[in-house]
Amino acid sequence: MTAYLKSTPTRDGWFGDYGGAMLPPPLEPHFKEIREAYDRISKSAEFIRELRYIRKHFQGRPTPVSHLKNLSDRCGGAQIYAKREDLNHTGAHKLNHCMAEGLLARFMGKTKLMAETGAGQHGVALATAAAYFGMECEIHMGEIDIAKEAPNVTRMKLLGANVVPVSFGGRSLKEAVDSCFQSYLSQADTALFAIGSVVGPHPFPMMVRNFQHVVGVEARDQFLEMTGELPDMVAACVGGGSNAMGIFSGFIDDDVALYGVEPMGTSSRLGEHAATITYGEDGDIHGFRTLVLKDAEGNPAPVHTVASGLDYPGVGPEHAHLHKTGRVTYTSADDRAALKAFFELSRHEGIIPALESAHAVAFAMREASNHPGKSILINLSGRGDKDIDYVTENFGLGDGL
Ligand SMILES: Cc1ncc(COP(=O)(O)O)c(C=O)c1O
Repeated sequence: MTAYLKSTPTRDGWFGDYGGAMLPPPLEPHFKEIREAYDRISKSAEFIRELRYIRKHFQGRPTPVSHLKNLSDRCGGAQIYAKREDLNHTGAHKLNHCMAEGLLARFMGKTKLMAETGAGQHGVALATAAAYFGMECEIHMGEIDIAKEAPNVTRMKLLGANVVPVSFGGRSLKEAVDSCFQSYLSQADTALFAIGSVVGPHPFPMMVRNFQHVVGVEARDQFLEMTGELPDMVAACVGGGSNAMGIFSGFIDDDVALYGVEPMGTSSRLGEHAATITYGEDGDIHGFRTLVLKDAEGNPAPVHTVASGLDYPGVGPEHAHLHKTGRVTYTSADDRAALKAFFELSRHEGIIPALESAHAVAFAMREASNHPGKSILINLSGRGDKDIDYVTENFGLGDGL
């Protein structure tokens, strides 16, 4: 663990002005139990040994770093590299924290895992963890996302999960979190709410980051071994921010420029994007303080992006903090740029990226020509199999973009 990671957040979960745990009284003892269990169990030799075994023999880690030579040649300028979380079992980085949370739940004597999901990747990963550990699984998912991410819904059901459709409000990720919290209230004795990103009340932003840290540790070693130096720039898409914190945390104490890429959707008008750091204000959401996109009444605003997994009006508190301190630069890519990147990577590298990850690819394609001789490492957080029906039905093979 780096100096930064050891000192951040504070004991009670604050990343500067952001984070904390604003909980309804009935949930307080349950979050205290999770905090104590995490502190005690996750540092034990037994937990570490078992998690290492799972990562190697079940997840297939380490995932490689690939030099995207064709894409680099086409863009001109910087050399682009990708950390291949699409090759992690189940096809995205989400399994890194799900297996660890499942293992923690088993040590705690829990019998059920539950969570919200947007793109379905976290739901699939958690259902996988539940199957592996022989636990029940309950996944809350907005109706809009259920329609858009049908293959992942089928996968969750095949893995034995109960998928609960969420039909109120915007019927998307925020409402899925609301619905899951509601259900968790009545079963917190036996279930662990394995929140899907570096969001939620303390200890989740810290715990999920630390379980995703493996991505940054591997990527740093692999990049050094491949090129003899560290990358000049590291970039990742930011929804809640778990894949970004995973890779950033490996480079946070280095002289490496870090970029978070938010979804600009179809325009910068409120309701048509989910660029929370770019346009948000301080506020509370789902039990923690962070930047929030708010409507005229001060409530979380409706959001839009082509990538369901980035569709959230809040962001992990650590990102709000790293934005404030200036350690990470937050920028954006819109739907069109992400779709173009989706097609470009598929055709010229043989890698179909998740629409979420395509935002990071779009950033690298845009920035490469501005940084000749430099290197850009992106976190390719997931594969795009889940998106192919939606993309081809709506955008064909991308010729009109
Ligand atoms: C492939 C992929 N990347 C990124 C994300 C966004 O989540 P986070 O910002 O927590 O990495 C998701 C969410 O579902 C995802 O499926």
